[in-house]
Formats: sequence, structure tokens, C-alpha cells
Amino acid sequence: MNHDLASEIRSKVDIVDIIGEKIPLVSHGKNFWGVCPFHDDKNPSLCVSRERQIYTCFSCHATGNAFTFVMEYDHMDFPSALKYLGEKVGVDVGNIKVAKKNDKTEKIYDAYLFATKYFQNNLLTKLGKKAKEYLASRKIDDAIIKEFEIGLSLEKKDDLTSLLMKKGYDIGMLNKIGLSADNHDIYCERIMFPLYDVNGRIVGFSGRIYKGKSQSKYVNTKETEIFKKGETLYHYHIAREECRLKKNVIVMEGFMDVIRASTIGVRNTVALMGTALTKQQIQLLKRLSPNIILCLDGDDPGVKATLSVGNLLLEEKVEVKVIPLPKEYDPDTYILEFGQEKFLSLMDSAIHFNDFKIQKLKETVDFRSDEETANYIHMVLEETAKLEDEIRIEVILKKLAKEFDIGYNTLEMRLQRIKQEKLTEKESQKIVVAPPPRKRKNKYDKAVEQLLFFMLHNDWVIDQAEKEFLVLPAEEHRILCSEIIYYYKKYGKIELADFYTYLQEKPNLLSLLNRILTDHYEEHTTQEELPLYFKVIREYGRKQEIKRLTTLMKKEVNPLEQAELVEKMRKLRIGED
Ligand code: UTP
Ligand code: MN
Repeated sequence: MNHDLASEIRSKVDIVDIIGEKIPLVSHGKNFWGVCPFHDDKNPSLCVSRERQIYTCFSCHATGNAFTFVMEYDHMDFPSALKYLGEKVGVDVGNIKVAKKNDKTEKIYDAYLFATKYFQNNLLTKLGKKAKEYLASRKIDDAIIKEFEIGLSLEKKDDLTSLLMKKGYDIGMLNKIGLSADNHDIYCERIMFPLYDVNGRIVGFSGRIYKGKSQSKYVNTKETEIFKKGETLYHYHIAREECRLKKNVIVMEGFMDVIRASTIGVRNTVALMGTALTKQQIQLLKRLSPNIILCLDGDDPGVKATLSVGNLLLEEKVEVKVIPLPKEYDPDTYILEFGQEKFLSLMDSAIHFNDFKIQKLKETVDFRSDEETANYIHMVLEETAKLEDEIRIEVILKKLAKEFDIGYNTLEMRLQRIKQEKLTEKESQKIVVAPPPRKRKNKYDKAVEQLLFFMLHNDWVIDQAEKEFLVLPAEEHRILCSEIIYYYKKYGKIELADFYTYLQEKPNLLSLLNRILTDHYEEHTTQEELPLYFKVIREYGRKQEIKRLTTLMKKEVNPLEQAELVEKMRKLRIGED
């Protein structure tokens, strides 16, 4: 690894920008805070320090510098992270060799890439005439075909399979990665839409029928080690940048919807590729933006999906809005029929998910029944209790009071009661889900870690520690200590963010460093206080040594050797006072 290059790049990037590009950060005091992407969280426990150029999560204890962030977040290796950040800040990174990480997965990617090219080419041949006509009838022109790399699989049963076998793929593998089945092509006579992972690499296909009849409209490539449907959102890699600019993300059901929206310049969109939403997909959505707009199909299943997806998202402290479509439309057909302008104004009039929910609820209530009416009002209040905006809450209460001719205070009282009940419920849950306490450290470990913490923040402590010739009892502490000293001597000071890079290839030390840095130690010490730490550590060393000698003593048969051991132990014991 080229340390100079790494630290040059590191010193030019601002970690706040790098992380801020990927997750929303709010400045508070000296630091910036965001919801940590490395564990399932709703609270802003990730602290990003501009001054120290590191991030630290106070909940899951993830910590590191700009490199480790993109490595973890975008699943890159170190050279790729170097290249990625270097390019951002205009450092020449042409010489960095990005290793192909895993030959086997690379081979899978290559197969899909080859298949994509093959499918695309089919569409251009005479055999693709019908498919082109079908696409044209759905207003999918050449530009869209090119952009979304749409292709065609043919009637003949083993074209792709034999081409890939000629390239050295064995049939077992082709069966396994879902391009072949029973030694024949899986996809026959379907319009082929490549599916992409979060980084924009093709990881499979969805093939749509375009003539004749078949049981399933779409056939997706089966799951492999690089493609998990529940971890995929169609169009994510394009939406990433767009959502940042537009400050929201629009969720649609199908990829035809996303493709259509793209033709009118709306690209901050992703498709669920189905209507269920997994935990991983929620995480991905949150990465795109905290403002999520649901624009699912207008039919009953679409409304049902909107309700269930919206409810899941509400638990995540994100802002959820809905663009309701007329019953017989999906975004694709709506845009086709009414055009860009109408769709954009529909987007502007997106309603809050809570309002949508209440609206849908209302459609089912029989207001001639007192019981149903009271029930309805209670449910509206339950939804209102989830809101944080006091003004909105008051508006809702006033409307309700007027609509049903009920006292404002009555409603307000009920609202408070619901809130109180929720709180108690939460409190009791909290106790159950409290994380297990971290392993308790004895006073020696604490002293050692506090010393290492001092060393990381105060150069003079490193000098002192070196002069002391301390022997730290635990091996990992010992190694970290000598790495700190070595680094300090070589580079003249401890720049924490660079020290992370330096420890890159030593995961054990990195995790020790993480632990120490997130464990509330004091940052500064004094000349008077520091020796006390040395003393505690020495005392432990002696105790350990006495223990070791005692065991030796038990095994020793030679009286002379025994006498020597006794003497050694005596000396150690004296030193103990
Ligand atoms: P839709 O049936 O709404 O698809 O299913 P669509 O986008 O409107 O497709 P067109 O316009 O009829 O071509 C939404 C999504 O559900 C998944 C697909 O990912 C689709 O985009 N789906 C649907 C399947 O996986 N298999 C199916 O048989 C149907
Ligand atoms: Mn649809």
C-alpha cells in the first residue's frame, strides 16, 4: 500500500462531504450526526467529526475514516476506495490496480454481461421484428432500449447456452446462475430487462412475455450469491445521485413504471419488483433519502401495498408521502396517457401517508353507526399521535372537531391518552430489547486502554510510555501500543484518520482501536496522573509473572532451579509494594 498516496487523498477529502453524500447529516455543535447505516437504527447515533476526520457510531461502535466508510458502505476493497476517493478530489490514481476480488463472482458477472450483449443483439436482427413492434406499441423507443439495455431471448432453445459454453463456462455453472436449465436456455421468447445491483452491475434478468400466452408475465433470474431479490431495488444505482438532488425518492411497483418515469426526466425512482418490502430494502430506501414518496399502482392490490409499505416505513422515522393514482392506472400508463406535466403536478400534490391512510379508512366506515364513527375518530387520533408537527396535529383536531361536532378538548384529551399509552408500551419494550452489556473489563484492562487512548491523543504520552518500557499484559494491547509508537516515530504525529488507514490490513487491531475509541475514555491527562496508570499496569504484569512462576515451580524437580524461582518471586513480591 502506498501510504503517501493514501494520506494525500485522505487529507484532501472531507469526511463530512463523503458521508453526507450517502446519508443525511445534521450539524450539531462541532460535529455532524446521522442515522448509522451499519446497524438497524432510527436514531442519529453516527457522529462525524470534521476536525478529526473520523466517524463513530455510539450505538454499534462502527468507526473509521473516509476510506473505511466507503469500503463498508459501498462494499469496496481498499484499492477501490482509494481510487474512488482519489478521483473525487483530483489526485492521480491511474496507477492503482483494482484487483478483481473474487474470480468466481467475476465470472458470473461476465456471463450476465455477455448475455446482455447477446440479448441486445437479438433485438436488432430480423428475429427481433415482432419484439420491436411490441416495444414500439408500448412506446419504448430505441433510446430507452439502449439506456436500459433491453434485449430479447429467442425461440431456439440453446443459443446462449452453447455460446457461453464455447467461452469456457460449464453447464453446471450456467444452470446454477439461472441462465440455463436442463442444459437449455432458460429464457425463450421474452423481452429481457437486465437487473442491476446497487453499484449498477448486471446481476440477473427479468424476462417479459410479449406474444402468445404463458403462466407468468415476468420470469426473474433465480437468486445467486450476487443477486438477492429482497436486497435489490431496481434503478437504485441511478436514483442514488438523483435522489440527492431532488431530496426525495419515489417508490414504484414495476420496472416499466421506473423506465417510463425516466423518459419524462423523473429519475429519483426505484421499483420494488413486487409489492413486499424487506428489511434490507428499507435500509436501501433510507440511504436514498429520508423523504419517501410512494407511487404504486392505483388498483386494489396497489392500495393495499401502499398501506403496508407505508406502515413499515413510518416505523423508521422517515417522512412518507403518497401519490395516489386513479384506480385503473399505474405510473407507466398514467404518464403515457396524461403526459409529463400532469404527472409532475400529481407529484407536487403528494399527500402525507397518514392522510392517505385516513382517507382509505373513511371509505370503509358506515357513519350512520355511532360505534363505527367513534371507532373511526379513535383511529384517526391514533394516526395523529404518531405525528411530531404540532401545527399539523392542531389542524387535524380542529377539522375533526368541526366535522363530527365534538369538543376540541375531548379530542385533545383522547390524543394525550393514546400518546401516554404508546409511551408506556415503548418503555416496557425498551427493557426487553436493551442490548446486552459489553464484557466488563477489569481495572488493568481499563488502565491499559485508557493509556492507549491518551497516547492516541497526546504525543507527549507516547514519549513517556516509550521511556517506561512498559510490557502490556495482553498481546493485542501490546501490538497496538507498539504500532502507535512506530507510527508516531515514522510520521511525527498521530493523525487518527490516517492511523486507521495504516491499520487497514490488521482487522484485529482495527477492531480493538474501534472499541477503545468508542468507550468513553478521558482524552487528556497530566504529568502527575500518568505515572499512576503505569503503576497499575506494572502491578498487573508482576501478578501475571508470579502466577507463571508458581506454575513452573510446581513442575520443577531440580532443587537448584526451585531456589532460583523462589528468589525471582520474592523480588517480584517486594517490587509489588
Ligand atoms: P406489474 O404487473 O405491475 O408489472 O408488476 P408492470 O411493471 O406493470 O409490467 P407491465 O407494464 O405489465 O409490463 C410489478 C412488478 O412485479 C414483478 C415485476 O418486477 C414487475 O415489474 N412481477 C410481476 C414479477 O416478478 N412477476 C410477474 O409475473 C409479475
Ligand atoms: Mn404495473
